Amino acid sequence: MEKKISIAIDGPAAAGKSTVAKRLAEALSYVYIDTGAMYRALTYCALQRGVDVHNEKQLMNVLHDTYIELKPSPIGQLVLANGEDVTEAIRKNDVTNNVSYVAKHPAVREEMVKRQRELGQHGGVVMDGRDIGTHVLPHAEVKIFLLASVEERAKRRHEENVARGIPSNLEQLKEEIAQRDRIDSERSVAPLKKAEDAIEIDTTSLSIDEVVDRIMRIVQERVKG
Ligand code: CDP
Ligand code: CDP
Repeated sequence: MEKKISIAIDGPAAAGKSTVAKRLAEALSYVYIDTGAMYRALTYCALQRGVDVHNEKQLMNVLHDTYIELKPSPIGQLVLANGEDVTEAIRKNDVTNNVSYVAKHPAVREEMVKRQRELGQHGGVVMDGRDIGTHVLPHAEVKIFLLASVEERAKRRHEENVARGIPSNLEQLKEEIAQRDRIDSERSVAPLKKAEDAIEIDTTSLSIDEVVDRIMRIVQERVKG
């Protein structure tokens, strides 16, 4: 039997991480772990409770009270917070524009990383985020860092919004994405950064299939090796 490895996919917002990670997990029959959804779920619960996203102590109280589940379903992965389905709610603008402030707090990251390592402890996982290759799974057999220009990433999110009938402004999206990248890259704990041993793929002019094919070839080499 082929050995089950761990695959870490990192990169900035809308680089294609979750789309590609889901496709890889499906093709390999691995578990997909969307770590961004965990930070988003905490942000959603904190906002619901009126907690200040800059107050680490209050955020930690919310986190300790919140059981976050990533649950596969026929319609895709569901995100549950204490059993409540928050899959849609965590993609809304109020969450998107606050999540990077929540994810800056060292205590929040420490607890999230603990939960993420538990989820990934048996291998056979594709985990996507910002610090997976550098911090959460430093021994992952395959590490990928996906990139794309900020213009292309804003365009992708804009097209996604339009297709879903959500009001969208391309210029505003570009600014919001650039701002989130800045906060994620400049934070003191586990910032968004390519791991030294990660393979960088610039997806600006690549299709999803092309990106998946490239990574599958890398995975196949490692699984055999
Ligand atoms: O899908 P998108 O790129 O918009 O973001 P996401 O993966 O859902 O992550 C949302 C936010 O969570 C990021 O902008 C980071 O602030 C934070 N995050 C993090 O700090 N570390 C991770 N491993 C994953 C997400
Ligand atoms: O997870 P992350 O925020 O990195 O990005 P995503 O949500 O997987 O991808 C954002 C959008 O870009 C999705 O609508 C994808 O279908 C699209 N995409 C693309 O058009 N070309 C790629 N090579 C990758 C993603």
